[in-house]
Amino acid sequence: MSDAPWPYPQWIAHRGGGSLAPENTLAAMRKGVEMGYRGVEFDVKLSRDGVCILLHDDTLERTTNGQGDAALQDYAALAKLDAGSWYGASFAGEPIPLFADVAAYCQANGVACNVEIKPCPGRERETGLAVARASALLWQGSAVAPLLSSFSWDALVAARAESPELPMGWLVDSWPDDWQARLTDLACVSFHCDHLLLDQARVQAVKQAGFKLLTYTVNDPARAQQLLAWGVDGLITDALARTV
Ligand code: G3P
Ligand code: MG
Repeated sequence: MSDAPWPYPQWIAHRGGGSLAPENTLAAMRKGVEMGYRGVEFDVKLSRDGVCILLHDDTLERTTNGQGDAALQDYAALAKLDAGSWYGASFAGEPIPLFADVAAYCQANGVACNVEIKPCPGRERETGLAVARASALLWQGSAVAPLLSSFSWDALVAARAESPELPMGWLVDSWPDDWQARLTDLACVSFHCDHLLLDQARVQAVKQAGFKLLTYTVNDPARAQQLLAWGVDGLITDALARTV
């Protein structure tokens, strides 16, 4: 574990702007900044031709006017889609952003990033490698590196091999009994989990083992205070207006 100061804010806007803007867009990043956030989480996957883009789902229907699997379309086609209208007419025409553009925006605005590697099925290693390679290049010389995380162990293994210098966290939605060995195996600095999995004893165990602990998606102020009192380091939230 490194002794370097932890550079990521306690409060992190989920998918860019939480529930206040269309997720994983530059408009969402702007909303987070406008609301005072200096930490953001977002989801990165690959187009068919290997371009890193922001998108949560494997498919396009929920958050764009496209159809089918994102992994089956080249970036040129994905770039023409509207990723804002589903949320509201005032966001019409908002595109699926390039990871590179979001990286530039966040660095220009002093926003620390938790980059969630979100591979489409079957592309875990390829996506981990591509996101790690892009992250190292995009944040080259930056004072605060992006914190990479993923539910996909294979993606993290590939990311670690590609860019060993980048900080990395393992993301889970169920509690693994072997969490300490797994985090140690991948030289993770942090553990990221659903806040519903946490109690005080688990928080203490993770902290005593020397890992930072980030948790999602914390929208209730009382629960947030409890988690912070237990020693949680980062809260990923949709409720931007109710928190910081
Ligand atoms: O990284 C924390 C959180 O974003 C994980 O869940 O589904 O919102 O990407 P999801
Ligand atoms: Mg995410």
